[in-house]
Amino acid sequence: MQKDKKILYSAVQPTNSLTIGNYIGAVKNFVALQEEYDCIYAIANMHAITVRQDPAQLRRNTLSLLALYIACGVDPEKCVLYLQSHVHEHAELAWALNTFTYVGEMERMTQFKDKSARHADNINMGLMDYPVLMAADILLYQTDVVPVGVDQRQHLEITRDIAIRFNNAYSPTFTVPEGLFMKVGAKIGDLLDPAKKMSKSSENLNGTVFMSDDRDTIMRKFRRAVTDSEACVKYDPETKPGVSNLLSIYSVFTGKSMEECEREFEGKGYGDFKAAVGEAVADSLAPVQAEQARLLEDRQYLDGVLKAGAANAARRAGRTLAKVYKKIGFYQI
Ligand code: TRP
Repeated sequence: MQKDKKILYSAVQPTNSLTIGNYIGAVKNFVALQEEYDCIYAIANMHAITVRQDPAQLRRNTLSLLALYIACGVDPEKCVLYLQSHVHEHAELAWALNTFTYVGEMERMTQFKDKSARHADNINMGLMDYPVLMAADILLYQTDVVPVGVDQRQHLEITRDIAIRFNNAYSPTFTVPEGLFMKVGAKIGDLLDPAKKMSKSSENLNGTVFMSDDRDTIMRKFRRAVTDSEACVKYDPETKPGVSNLLSIYSVFTGKSMEECEREFEGKGYGDFKAAVGEAVADSLAPVQAEQARLLEDRQYLDGVLKAGAANAARRAGRTLAKVYKKIGFYQI
């Protein structure tokens, strides 16, 4: 890979369908970043099994996510695109890093506490160890930057702590990664409760728009989106959270500035406004969905991408793991 570019790492779990919030917050940025960085993008299926998955569904979701990445413009010729479980170094480094991580730290992680509450019947070791596996993902590739949203900030912080701890115990081994806090990607709120982030695990999924939703579903969800009683399309997240959220979505999906968007809806009612936002989203998703469906028919191509990606990733990861094993005193033959 190009030595002059910084190494960027990110991953998405193949659970459910992505929301348009995931698309704006993650996958769309992945495309923009691939020119500037040496990008490594994983499908984190090992993280996914920390909550119970249906095996057939997990397999299906893995291929759908791969096809979606490519359909959105992530180019397997330009970046490393691979499936986490295909590169055994992840599990191996995670094991070694476990011995540099304290139980107390893991118990205090916000996401662990949230997920333990949500899956009280299955608080497994993997759920608790999730951040260590994530640290292994990142550190294996000597990653310089990780694009992070607020929900992953604490995980990046612990990754840095573990890397520094290991480097201090032996000698510089891991690059200590920095967070890349994306400027674009206005946070997308739930259509029915805009103060809340749009999420695939909401109780009421009518407020969540999925990348896989068809036009009718999208139009229906936007028709029901909450607004206010003012009948005035203006961006003001404090007093008009619903309308502002819809304006953000419209702006992101049309590429128009907020002022342009406001002007466009001057004097128009909320009915027309909501329909226009729905149309913009449906129009943007249609070609992506069509391309994703086409790719999913071409299993040979998708398998080829995964094979090449895994070989490339394993080569890079293998170098780091060999260094680690040497430093910790694993006898080499
Ligand atoms: N935990 C991330 C998420 O759910 C996915 C992930 C796994 C990840 N490994 C990573 C993200 C490494 C960034 C870097 O969104």
